Amino acid sequence: MRNVTKDNITEVFLGYFGKDTDPRLMEIMTSLATHLHAFVKDTGLTHAEWEKGIQLLEWAGEISDKERHEFVLLSDVLGVSSLVDMVNTVEGGTSSSVLGPFHITDAPAIPMGHDMKRHYEGAVLMATGVVQDMHGNPIEGASLDIWQTAPNGLYSSQDDEQDTYSFHGIQTTGADGRYGFTTVKPVSYTVPTDGPVGEILNATGRHPWRPSHLHFIAKADGFKTLVSEVFADDDPYLDQDTVFGVREDLVMRYVEQPAGSFPSEGFDLSGKVDGPWLKVDFDLVLTPA
Ligand code: BEZ
Ligand code: FE
Repeated sequence: MRNVTKDNITEVFLGYFGKDTDPRLMEIMTSLATHLHAFVKDTGLTHAEWEKGIQLLEWAGEISDKERHEFVLLSDVLGVSSLVDMVNTVEGGTSSSVLGPFHITDAPAIPMGHDMKRHYEGAVLMATGVVQDMHGNPIEGASLDIWQTAPNGLYSSQDDEQDTYSFHGIQTTGADGRYGFTTVKPVSYTVPTDGPVGEILNATGRHPWRPSHLHFIAKADGFKTLVSEVFADDDPYLDQDTVFGVREDLVMRYVEQPAGSFPSEGFDLSGKVDGPWLKVDFDLVLTPA
């Protein structure tokens, strides 16, 4: 095409694909170019605005490394990560939710009844439940990779005061499909704001808060891996999660238990909790692979 115009540029672009291009790649690039071209035309994007966008992307690249994933964070606050979760969710299972950038791949195995709270200040929370299939049958040998922040709202990789695996652990279910551990009640916290994502949130009048949550990845042979989170139903940010991760079936009540009622055996903290404590019961439903 000798004369590329704003009216034919999308068509010209689509005509440039090589004939051996993978069909799925062609589908994705066709849709991407079509939407990007429409976005530029709809907004009448100026050179200065285009340049600002490029600068933000370059900044995201400069501050990203093995532990800091600014492009993932950008996708999160734009709602893209959550949409990818939702378009890939199978009906009938527990909803998935954002992975976030703070998962550690080699967390230690933790036995049934393990305590992750240790010396940290805050309410004791017992989390228990069953990992099951869509018919309610317990799944034996499912692994549950769990992580959360310390009470200061920081993950271990963000905080020099914590050891690498603090508030990270992997538990395996027994024949009854059950898991159970104690931790500290999670807190609301902010996503990192010292990079381009923080600048975008600030410029658009958005706050950086996430409602308190426990992250988990549930894996079992023959089932689709579930990446998700459990939220507390009394959190003030539940209706305004800055990364759009909240789903109704993931919101649970942390039920206050009276002083003196902590189980006398089966938990690392048995015999050590005198005051009131909290309990959340959360069953996870996995869908077939
Ligand atoms: C998180 O929940 O760990 C998280 C998710 C998205 C962006 C930042 C943090
Ligand atoms: Fe988180």
